[in-house]
Amino acid sequence: MKTLLQIKSSIFSEGGQSSRLTERFIAAWRESNPDGQVIVRDLALEPIPHLDAGRFGAFLAKPGERSAAQQAVIEHSDALIDELGRADVVVLGLPMYNFGLPSTLKAYFDHVARAGVTFRYTEKGAVGLLTGKKVYVFSARGGLYAGTSRDTQTPYVRDILAFLGMDDIEFVYAEGLAISEASKQQGIARAHAEIDQLLGSPLGRESQDQSTQAQRDKQGDEEDADLERGDRRLVAVTGAPRTSELL
Ligand SMILES: Cc1cc2nc3c(=O)[nH]c(=O)nc-3n(C[C@H](O)[C@H](O)[C@H](O)COP(=O)(O)O)c2cc1C
Repeated sequence: MKTLLQIKSSIFSEGGQSSRLTERFIAAWRESNPDGQVIVRDLALEPIPHLDAGRFGAFLAKPGERSAAQQAVIEHSDALIDELGRADVVVLGLPMYNFGLPSTLKAYFDHVARAGVTFRYTEKGAVGLLTGKKVYVFSARGGLYAGTSRDTQTPYVRDILAFLGMDDIEFVYAEGLAISEASKQQGIARAHAEIDQLLGSPLGRESQDQSTQAQRDKQGDEEDADLERGDRRLVAVTGAPRTSELL
């Protein structure tokens, strides 16, 4: 039985575009893994505190010398690492906010990167200990960045995952979501097509899950409207390409 860990980092939780992409992938995964277990880690619903000197001190303290507060920090971090360690497949929803990854996701990485636990130092450098996993990253963006030097997310996520031992990673991008309605639909359709190819079979289940997807899309429309108001402002500031350049 395989275990899949779904990490959602959209501030909109399951309504986020990145979360919806992870759901589409997981629906397909469940078909090929009917006995598989899915663990959900929603960083919007259960945010992880920022790493500070106190919390990092807990990571450094020797087991017998931890205060009660330090022990609580360790137990929290251990629980996150345990569920990550158990996963054969990791599915990460990755929105772009203000040119980077959500701060909740950074806090998550800060709590699972532990020397001697998830990586260790050797004479040849650091070695990740969370090996043998397949990682799928579903990224949602208002503008267009993939394949350009302005995409700061992909190299960072690739590096931190590889540092922890996870170097078998697939990225799927839904981009241009804030540029126009046509661009948004095109970005989502492209991402869906890629997702449907990921597990090796074009979606035979398309008709099956259309109604569920339609429901999800409807639920998300309100959030999208709010988001786009903010996004348009951002796109104007960041100088994303005009719609005509995209189509
Ligand atoms: C606070 C905020 C900041 C954003 N910053 C960016 C940005 O820097 N670049 C960009 O392309 N899109 C930006 N967007 C648009 C998001 O990337 C887009 O809405 C995407 O769908 C977010 O993923 P989510 O729906 O899973 O939350 C921003 C959206 C929000 C709400």
